[in-house]
Amino acid sequence: MSEPVRRPIRANEPTNRLIPSERFAARTAGMTASEIRALFAVASRPEVVSLAGGMPNLAALPLPALAEEVADLVARDGQVALQYGSAQGTPELREQICEVMAVEGIRADPNDVVVTVGSQMALDLVTRIYCDPGDVVVAEGPSYVGALGSFAAYQARVVHVAMDEHGLVPTLLRETLSALATRGVTPKFLYTIPNFHNPAGVTMAVERRSEVLQICAEYGVAVVEDNPYGLLGFTGRVYPALRSLDRDVIYLGSFSKTFASGLRVGWALVPPAVRDRLVLAAESATLCPPSFTQMLVSRYLAGHDWRSQIKTFAEAYRERRDAMLRALETHLPPGCTWNVPDGGFYVWLTVPDGVDTKAMLPRAVTARVAYASGTGFYADGFGSRQLRLSYCYPTPERITEGVRRLAAVLESELDVIRTFGSPSRPNLGPAPARNGPQTPSPHTP
Ligand SMILES: Cc1ncc(COP(=O)(O)O)c(C=O)c1O
Repeated sequence: MSEPVRRPIRANEPTNRLIPSERFAARTAGMTASEIRALFAVASRPEVVSLAGGMPNLAALPLPALAEEVADLVARDGQVALQYGSAQGTPELREQICEVMAVEGIRADPNDVVVTVGSQMALDLVTRIYCDPGDVVVAEGPSYVGALGSFAAYQARVVHVAMDEHGLVPTLLRETLSALATRGVTPKFLYTIPNFHNPAGVTMAVERRSEVLQICAEYGVAVVEDNPYGLLGFTGRVYPALRSLDRDVIYLGSFSKTFASGLRVGWALVPPAVRDRLVLAAESATLCPPSFTQMLVSRYLAGHDWRSQIKTFAEAYRERRDAMLRALETHLPPGCTWNVPDGGFYVWLTVPDGVDTKAMLPRAVTARVAYASGTGFYADGFGSRQLRLSYCYPTPERITEGVRRLAAVLESELDVIRTFGSPSRPNLGPAPARNGPQTPSPHTP
């Protein structure tokens, strides 16, 4: 049989070489834009009060002093700062990172620190080296949307374990691991955010920490501790990191919330047996983290009082948290509950039965307030009665106004539901009488 005659194709002639459905890897099917990112364009219009994003508030940074550091860094050390560097990160910064982690009781060797482009990259790399398609990761429900994105990108399946006001519930963790074990499944790791959780705002009780570690050890499950907010508490209390209790914990840290998110400097502290693999994965992703931003962070840590800068940040966040809590108490309709975070950026709000926070979002944005609906923080579609409010970025006045607008949207939503019923619960009766700060809604997968 003779070959069909192929006519020559010009270089820029359209072909089907890039047609997504045929050519993209199967794992890209799990890569969806997070609801928050999808919202970003609308939510960042000036007339909209955005309580959606988790952007740190950088107003308190000493910008003139930093400008001098940047100029001096280029003038004195430009040949190194503008050059490739080590895949693991600069030795000086890795030493300083160990000093930062010591505040939370961690004793670490700089050789076990791998500097990454934000802790998001560390999350991605850890998932990359542990997860094959179909592997199970256990995570709190709700959990950090960026982590869920990484797990989805590597086709890992997420099994959620509920929290209460003291964080991850150990008995539920044990039940979940036991149920998985009876099906012959050992999760690759537990992913947990013990301090000032994103999005739930809660902190894992100190008494629970060793219990959680013990349960994971019993079931042979590794622990990944993600801790970008740990130093941003409002009471002065610093909680012991899980890694301070168990050297096998993989710990992820970041300068995004305690210094400057735009520099994209984070890290992983890993047991020596994991380090080489992680460095190889890092090398294949970026060759090396940027020398420039690492050296800038090093100068900042060496030359500035970073501890008191963190206190200044925490004070600003506490003031904003208070404004949000006052506004919630004052304006929200009955039947809403929320937690009282003692650090970090977020309040997790449960709305009355019948309200769907995802469906309500376009109406909220029309009313010039944005939030992150709860479904984005679960891998299993749960969370339609929840939403996350961030108080980190807007001024206290804007926060108050944003909550007032949100309350009005909720009121009209409830009016409609009372009149016509809701898709999930037709003809909702009278609204529940009580509202106020409470625990995050428990969720059992
Ligand atoms: C829980 C959690 N982990 C990781 C990250 C990523 O932080 P980074 O800026 O260091 O990549 C965030 C950012 O919001 C976060 O909330």
